[in-house]
Amino acid sequence: MKPFKSKDFRPDEEVEDLYGPPEMFGLPDERTDESDDAAPEFIDEEQERLRQLRDTQVQLAYGPPVTMTPDLLKDQEVQPVYGPPEWFSNTPDGFFSTAPEIPPVLRGDAMNGMTVPGFDRLMKCYHQLRAKTDFVPKVALVLGSGLGGFADEEVDITCTVDYSEIEGFPRSTVLGHRGRFVFGFVGDVPVVVMQGRVHYYEGYSMTDVVMPARLMSMLGAEVLFLTNASGGINADFSAGDFMLIKDHISTFVPNPLIGQNMEQLGTRFPDMSRIYSEELNGIIRSTASELNISLKEGVYVQLTGPSFESPAEIRMLRGLGADAVGMSTAVEAIAANHAGMKICGISCVANLACGMTDNPLTHAEVQECADKAAPKFKALIGGAIRKMGKIGG
Ligand code: HPA
Repeated sequence: MKPFKSKDFRPDEEVEDLYGPPEMFGLPDERTDESDDAAPEFIDEEQERLRQLRDTQVQLAYGPPVTMTPDLLKDQEVQPVYGPPEWFSNTPDGFFSTAPEIPPVLRGDAMNGMTVPGFDRLMKCYHQLRAKTDFVPKVALVLGSGLGGFADEEVDITCTVDYSEIEGFPRSTVLGHRGRFVFGFVGDVPVVVMQGRVHYYEGYSMTDVVMPARLMSMLGAEVLFLTNASGGINADFSAGDFMLIKDHISTFVPNPLIGQNMEQLGTRFPDMSRIYSEELNGIIRSTASELNISLKEGVYVQLTGPSFESPAEIRMLRGLGADAVGMSTAVEAIAANHAGMKICGISCVANLACGMTDNPLTHAEVQECADKAAPKFKALIGGAIRKMGKIGG
C-alpha cells in the first residue's frame, strides 16, 4: 500500500491502519507475503508504549482527562496525548482542553513521536457530517466578521448543520459568528458555507482551527474561498476597501501542519509558492470590474490576536511587506493547500491599523465597518462563486 495522497484520499474507504505501513514512515518494509499487517515490531513498540500508559492520567483528543484502563487501551480508536498531571488540572469538562498553561501544540496534537489524534477526530467528524447529508460541494466558503448574512441571503439552502451537532468539532465563541455549516447552491454551484469560523485566540489548537477546512475538502470541495475583516496597513488603503489576498505571512502564528503529518491529506513538506490561485484571482478581478467594485490587492499577515497590534508592530509589519493584518485565514490556507485545494481570499479592510489614525481600535468599529461593506462584499463573493462552477472540469 502506498501512502495516501490528498487527491486519491477517499474518506469513505476503510483505512487499513491509522499508523500506516512502515514505508510511510521511512522504515524498511519487513513484511512477508503472508502478512498483510503492519510490521510486527512496529505494533510491538506501540503496544509497549500503551502498556506504559496504563493507569496514568491522559488527555484524549477531547473531553476531560481520563485514567487509562486496560479497556481503554484495548480500544484502537483511542489516541492519547500524555503529560504530567499539572497539564490537566484546569481542563474543563466535556470538550477540548483549553487550559492556558497547556501549550496548544501539545493539546490534541502529536508529541513524543505519537500519532496525531487530530486525524482520528477529523474522520469521526466527517462520518457524523456524512450521516446528516450526502451533499457534495464544489466551493467551500468561509465567512468572516460581518459577512454571516451571505449564507441566508445568497445561498439557495439545501440543509444546515450546527457545529454543536458534530461531536468533537470546535465551536465558534466569537459574537456575530453563528456557528453552522450551510449547504446549498449559489447559482448552479454547490457550496458549503461556514457561517462563523474558529480562531486560535479562542484557545483552540491550530489543528482544531484548520479542521473545518480539511473537513470541507474531504466533503469534496475543490475550492476554498476565504474571507475576513482586517486592519489596513498599506497607506493607500481606506476603511471599507476590499483586498484580494495575493499572498500571506503566517510566521507569527504556529504552523497548522506541526505534528505528525496526516499523510492521507498531503505531503510532509508542502510547497507554498502559489497558495492563492491565479485562476481564481482572475475570476475575482473580472467580477469586481463587472460590478464596478474597486479591488485592492496585497499581502495579508496573520497574528494570533486577540489584542490588536501596537503602532510599533504595525510599522514592523509594513516593513515586512504586509498590506493588511488580521487574526485568521493564513493557517486555513496552509492546511487547504496541504490538502490540495485551490484557494482564494478577499479581505474587507474594516479599519486602518493601529497608529494610522488617532482613534483607538474596537471590535465594535470593526464589526460596524464590515457590516456597512457587507452588501458590496456579498455581491462580489456571490458573483465570483457563480463563475467558479467551471473550475477544474
Ligand atoms: N488588526 C487585527 N485584526 C483585525 C483588525 C486589526 O486592525 N481589524 C480587523 N481585524
